[in-house]
Amino acid sequence: MIKAIQSFDEYTRAYAASIADPEKYWDDQAAQFIWKKKWDKTLEWNFSDPDVKWFIGGKLNITENILDRHATKTPDKVAIHWESNNPDEAGKDITYKQLYEQVCVFAGVLKQKGIKKGDRVCIYMPMIPELAIAVLACARIGAIHSVIFAGFSASAVADRVNDAKAVAVLTSDGSFRGTKSIAVKALIDEALQQCETVKTVLVAKRTGDAVAMKDGRDYWWDEAIAGATPVYEAEEMDSEDPLFILYTSGSTGKPKGVVHTIGGYMVYTAFSFANVFQYNEGDVYFCTADIGWITGHSYLVYGPLLQGATQVMFEGIPTYPDAGRFWSIIDKYAVTHFYTAPTAIRSLMSFGDTMVEKYSLKSLKVLGSVGEPINEEAWHWFNEHIGKKNCPIVDTWWQTETGGILISPLASITPLVPSYATLPLPGVQPVLVDANGTVLEGNNVEGNLCMKFPWPSIIRTTYGDHERCKQTYFSTYPNLYFTGDGCKRDEKGYYRIMGRVDDVINVSGHRFGTAEIESAINEQADVIESAVVGYPHEVKGQGIYAYVICDKTDKNEDQLRKEILDSIVKLIGPIAKPDKIQIVTGLPKTRSGKIMRRILRKVAEGDLNNLGDTSTLLDPEIVEEIKKGAL
Ligand code: WT7
Repeated sequence: MIKAIQSFDEYTRAYAASIADPEKYWDDQAAQFIWKKKWDKTLEWNFSDPDVKWFIGGKLNITENILDRHATKTPDKVAIHWESNNPDEAGKDITYKQLYEQVCVFAGVLKQKGIKKGDRVCIYMPMIPELAIAVLACARIGAIHSVIFAGFSASAVADRVNDAKAVAVLTSDGSFRGTKSIAVKALIDEALQQCETVKTVLVAKRTGDAVAMKDGRDYWWDEAIAGATPVYEAEEMDSEDPLFILYTSGSTGKPKGVVHTIGGYMVYTAFSFANVFQYNEGDVYFCTADIGWITGHSYLVYGPLLQGATQVMFEGIPTYPDAGRFWSIIDKYAVTHFYTAPTAIRSLMSFGDTMVEKYSLKSLKVLGSVGEPINEEAWHWFNEHIGKKNCPIVDTWWQTETGGILISPLASITPLVPSYATLPLPGVQPVLVDANGTVLEGNNVEGNLCMKFPWPSIIRTTYGDHERCKQTYFSTYPNLYFTGDGCKRDEKGYYRIMGRVDDVINVSGHRFGTAEIESAINEQADVIESAVVGYPHEVKGQGIYAYVICDKTDKNEDQLRKEILDSIVKLIGPIAKPDKIQIVTGLPKTRSGKIMRRILRKVAEGDLNNLGDTSTLLDPEIVEEIKKGAL
């Protein structure tokens, strides 16, 4: 287990040491874990292939560091307080001993179904205990999990299952979200019509709704575990074996499968959890993220459990039965550490302070924010109304590809500045570069955020397509990992993330590529061409604005809009629905045919009088039309 840094002075020394001798620094951290065999060499790397390996030759199983370790030391400590969507339904408290047993049993089920080390297993489930158990059971037997957020459509699921050539899918009959009950298994059935590699589907019971079960493929979770032989002997894995794939969107093409490997991911998630949150014995941690996103992987499943923490896992949504739900959960479990997203804060703010005043929130010690830049208004509201000006807010910057938090205050240690992610964690070496790739030295500079040295949980590859990993992250600037974010370093050396500089839109902390949404829009039969941009949105951070050219048709604009939305819901999921769709007769293009997104962004922002130079446009008239029709 990682011992956290205790003071700012110690942070400064640790940071210096981690730069002076990274291998020594990470050797010391990695030595805090259970390995089946110690590593021979700490690090080999280059950012040109790219090829990064940590703890080379080390053998381990990450679940031994979670389950065997804490089930032996603190068997009766609660690992997960599971809170139902329905506040009147009793939750479940799962101790480390019980978690160990349940994971070993379910790992036995996976083995019995013929799933082996290295096989890919897709998991599409609501936030029920079986989801955490499923993830850990895969890791126990060395299968590579690919969790797909349970809001994606059948078509998006099929794409991911096929890309990973998954042999099994773990799911549930249905799910509860607020007042809704959602047919999960039916969606999987639809998806799997397009997937040939899946031989086994395991179905956990949640809603009790009737579902179709396909003979020889589908099995009920309950029945399967009844006959399983538990896997008490965890599979021996190599440090650089993949632990999981998680799909995320980029500027171009379909979402790509980010691959993380076991040793480095384990060391870095535990390390960053311990240091950023300063979790202490007796504390209760609550991360509101879904396990379907990287935050749920690193700071719900792996980081906290590696450190033997007690945490809350919540099935439902922040506004059910009312907008005080998070606060009521905090009081109910005496939560000390609360980690959420700016979009949730902004949304809950809008329900008024009386929703908060009913609750004491006096157990809270540390607040955290993740997923997008937190604006000052939200920061101050969080600080005053939730933290009662008594809790540090850790604004944690990181990405699916980084595996763990790279730039963040350490709670109660790093002096805070609202809306600044502040300083890099030990071992993290950020650089800012200008458009030409020149490194900007010194303070008071702004540029594109890159990393010049690997940290243990850096992305290793994009599944099945290493070239894409190289092109996306390691080719823009030679020998640097490029994050895609713009960033400012102030006079004190503090970092402030300015947002994406590429064609990625961050809606409520969820990432979409403009190209991905455009291709879903273009599937609607009347659409000729479309262009999607992000624009500032009060609650979501960014909203999606789509400009669409349609063929001549009898359909009116409302009908076209509805069909376009249907196409997006079908191909990606409701989370990718544009906020605004403007039907246009043309798009502003340069003579070489490139869409001038700068102009479209300005119009979407409502900044109609500062469109800049439009003289190079093929058809400047179109800009006038777009301005007139702006929504
Ligand atoms: C992008 C990564 C990291 C887990 C959730 C999102 C933005 C993330 C912050 C922050 C400003 C942030 C960046 C980044 N982002 N955290 N604290 N301040 N921006 O993971 O889906 O991979 O998205 O989210 O733009 O590149 P993701």
